[in-house]
Amino acid sequence: TRTPVNVTVTGAAGQIGYALLFRIASGQLLGADVPVKLRLLEIPQGMKAAEGTAMELDDCAFPLLKGIDIFDDPNAGFEGANVALLVGARPRTKGMERGDLLSANGGIFKPQGKAINDHAADDIKVLVVGNPANTNALIAQAAAPDVPAERFTAMTRLDHNRAISQLAAKTGADVTDIKRLTIWGNHSATQYPDIFHAEIAGKNAAEVVNDELWLADTFIPTVAKRGAAIIEARGASSAASAANAAIDHVHTWVNGTAAGDWTSMGIPSDGSYGVPEGIISSFPVTTKDGKYEIVQGLDINEFSRARIDASVAELVEERDAVRELGLI
Ligand code: NAI
Repeated sequence: TRTPVNVTVTGAAGQIGYALLFRIASGQLLGADVPVKLRLLEIPQGMKAAEGTAMELDDCAFPLLKGIDIFDDPNAGFEGANVALLVGARPRTKGMERGDLLSANGGIFKPQGKAINDHAADDIKVLVVGNPANTNALIAQAAAPDVPAERFTAMTRLDHNRAISQLAAKTGADVTDIKRLTIWGNHSATQYPDIFHAEIAGKNAAEVVNDELWLADTFIPTVAKRGAAIIEARGASSAASAANAAIDHVHTWVNGTAAGDWTSMGIPSDGSYGVPEGIISSFPVTTKDGKYEIVQGLDINEFSRARIDASVAELVEERDAVRELGLI
């Protein structure tokens, strides 16, 4: 029998946590033959609710779930972690400036990065979901000098999935016919969903759509502002689709992309496509054997270049701001 994989989830008592934990425990994160042990990390005020969720997890009698432990100390929460999903974060509240937001999150992600550095397993893989996800991932990574930098990733898979869904609806294609879509840049309103290299049933997606105005004025803003549209409609933020994207991100990272396809992940830049080295930006990536590689050699047209540059400029500003705050 296989040794269980330790999965640490922060913000376990939150909305996304509630939509995420049952899917991890059912085998959807790593595979239907991989036993897991859950380590839930919360703040003291969230401990009781996390215990309630753990009771429900017990009540599912999931065959693959080999244990649940709950912590409010990051050092204990990340002990032996093979996969860490950093979901808990400090949201932007009314009147909060960007600097306040970044320092509040620095207070969470810096100690968590240090705890990962000191206590996680050697093969640790980290996905940051909590916003601002890219820069929170950068803060955690900087606090973990002994962990290879590429193990710190940020989630843009929800944006990726949203873009596939919008493109399918526009063209009447099935979502499974859409390949090679890319989210570039920051998980924020400046992100750039790129269909110029995407394919719909083997045909170039931009040629199938053949409507640059729709791209600029409808598709891109719809994908970028989808989170706000969900809040408006549901009266609560997109938790189930975010949890689904987190499952997809880790599952693809661990189990590989399909031949001829790629996915989008926020990862430390190696300088590809003119994105400054070190910032955590979304790229097209293929994955295999638990490792990812940036897809190289794509032609970037003017339309795309301007939008990638704008989102990357925002990431550089965020990096400079957290540097000034002494967070990296
Ligand atoms: P939520 O407010 O329902 O839950 C957050 C949980 O985190 C709370 O239970 C809180 O007690 C906990 N928490 C706060 N600080 C913590 C710490 N230091 N350690 C451990 N736990 C801590 O929020 P929700 O809806 O679950 O969203 C979580 C985050 O995910 C937010 O930052 C949200 O903006 C982000 N998000 C990111 C998306 C993406 O595509 N990257 C998509 C949707 C949401």
